[in-house]
Formats: sequence, C-alpha cells, structure tokens
Amino acid sequence: MALKRVGIIGFPLSHTLSPIMHNAAFAALGLTDWHYDAMEIPPDIPKHAVEEPRRAGYVGLNVTIPFKQVVMAYCTPDAKARAIGAVNTIDFRTDVGTNTDVDGFIEDLLAHQLPLRGEKVIVLGAGGAARAAVYGLWQQGAQIVVVNRTKERADDMLAQLTVSAGVQGVQILTLDKAAEWGASLIVNCTSAGMKPQTDESPWIAGVPLPQGVTVYDMVYRPAQTAFMRQAEAVGGRAIGGLGMLIRQGAAAFRLWTGREAPLEVMRQAAEQALAQHL
Ligand SMILES: NC(=O)c1ccc[n+]([C@@H]2O[C@H](COP(=O)([O-])OP(=O)(O)OC[C@H]3O[C@@H](n4cnc5c(N)ncnc54)[C@H](OP(=O)(O)O)[C@@H]3O)[C@@H](O)[C@H]2O)c1
Repeated sequence: MALKRVGIIGFPLSHTLSPIMHNAAFAALGLTDWHYDAMEIPPDIPKHAVEEPRRAGYVGLNVTIPFKQVVMAYCTPDAKARAIGAVNTIDFRTDVGTNTDVDGFIEDLLAHQLPLRGEKVIVLGAGGAARAAVYGLWQQGAQIVVVNRTKERADDMLAQLTVSAGVQGVQILTLDKAAEWGASLIVNCTSAGMKPQTDESPWIAGVPLPQGVTVYDMVYRPAQTAFMRQAEAVGGRAIGGLGMLIRQGAAAFRLWTGREAPLEVMRQAAEQALAQHL
C-alpha cells in the first residue's frame, strides 16, 4: 500500500499542532496509509517549499506563516483563497489552493450557537487572520467594525477585500469608538495575548466592554487568554481559538481524504499536546 503523504510548510514550525491532530485522525479512522509531516522551510524559498513536496508525490499541503500569500503563485487559488488573498491548503491532485481558515472560523462560531446575520461584530486586527474573519463575517451578513493598532494596515486590508471579494460597508474605528458603537461579538484576530506574551490583551483596560458581549479569541495558546478573562470579569462569554484550529484542519482533512474528520479525536490530541507544552 503506497503511503499517502500530506504535511505543513511554514517557518518556524516547532509549535504546530497540525501533525498531532491529523495523524491522530488518520489512526482513529484506520487510514494507516496516510501520514502528516511538518516541514520547516526557510522563508526565502517559497517555490521550493511547494514544488519539492509536489515532486515527492505528496497528496497535499497545509500552508502557514510566512507562506500563505506567496504560495498563491505556485498553485491555482480558488475563489475563497483569491477573495482573502491567502492559501492555507493545497490539493496537488487538482493543483487547487484554498483557504479553510474562513470555514473553520465560521463553523466554530455557529457550533457555539452565535447568531451572525445582522449582528454587530468588532474585529480586532488587520493581518491574515483578520482578513479571513472579515470576509467570513461579511458573507454571513454581520455588521462589522475593524480596530487595528496600525490604522493604515486596516485601510489596506479593507481596500483589498473590496477589490478581491466586493466587501463593502465595513467601518474602521478606534477602540473607544468601537466600544461606544457596541457589539454582540468581539473577535480577537491579533497575536496579543499569545504565549509567551500572556499578559497582553488587545482590549485596553479602562475601555468598557459592551454589556453581554461574547469574546472569541483566535489565540489558542494559552487556552484562557487575558482578553477572555476581561470578558468573563464583566459577565461576558469567552471562547478560545482551538475550535477554529481544529475545524480548519478538519476541512483540509475532508478535502484530502474524502472522509469526515473525527473532530473529537483531533480536539483531544490537540488539547493533550497543549497541556504537555505548558
Ligand atoms: N485559531 C486559529 O485557527 C487561528 C488561525 C489563524 C490565526 N490565528 C491566530 O491569530 C493571530 C493573528 O494571526 P495573523 O496570521 O493574522 O498574524 P499577522 O498577520 O502577523 O497579524 C497580526 C495582527 O496582530 C496585531 N498585533 C500584534 N501584536 C499586537 C498587540 N500587542 N496589540 C495589538 N495588536 C497587536 C497586528 O497589528 P499591527 O498591524 O498594528 O501590527 C496585526 O493586526 C495569531 O495569534 C494566530 O496564532 C489562529
């Protein structure tokens, strides 16, 4: 039985949970001919990072920082990847590059029974994760305000999303103005609070959080972030980003294997690895 190999390219990759999640999922479904590798590749050779696994017969790849944008030149990005301007999953059998971050994010919000259509949502950040969040929320019909430390980056993100995906009507505000606007959901798409900067929060202390708000923190290391604690301290609900990570992986798993991914197996494997690395 020929080995079917998939893997992740990125730099650095020392903390990736993807091999652990996927290999646990292959084992749970008896897919003993599948294996998932981590391939740490120097940032200056993106073409090599895609072409070598392709030549070696890999079925597909996950792509993470710093390659998500640049690999668009080395595959055929689908409409979703073109809209966001980033690829995180490639299927070499079709050459298609897609982006499963959006589906992972929206599926996890819906799994937590969060209404989105017509809801007021504040997105914190303007990097790759924020781009996926704004696109997904906009598709779901949410009203969106973006807050970013560097306003020009937020301007650029929205200008690009307007061109690539027709995104309209998203406002950029300062944090205090966004707080006044109010929201039922605030999504942290910044890296503030991520290990080792665990005391940091993207929400400035002293700016009141909207009453009854739900905070969704894409950061999953640590499981409980400073921002989540701020929300809970005022009676809000707080959800960490592990569910999104698992669901974006599950979407790639489905694409490559044609099988439904065992979400609970993937969650347990990821939680165990996180607990061991603490
Ligand atoms: N759960 C998941 O599945 C999942 C998926 C994707 C990403 N993520 C997480 O999402 C986060 C962002 O990822 P990314 O790829 O979008 O990164 P990125 O492209 O590097 O963007 C980083 C963003 O964070 C902001 N930022 C960084 N430090 C900050 C601070 N101390 N205070 C306020 N803002 C700060 C940056 O603001 P400036 O523009 O001002 O620099 C920028 O908007 C990371 O923690 C990543 O692990 C999670």
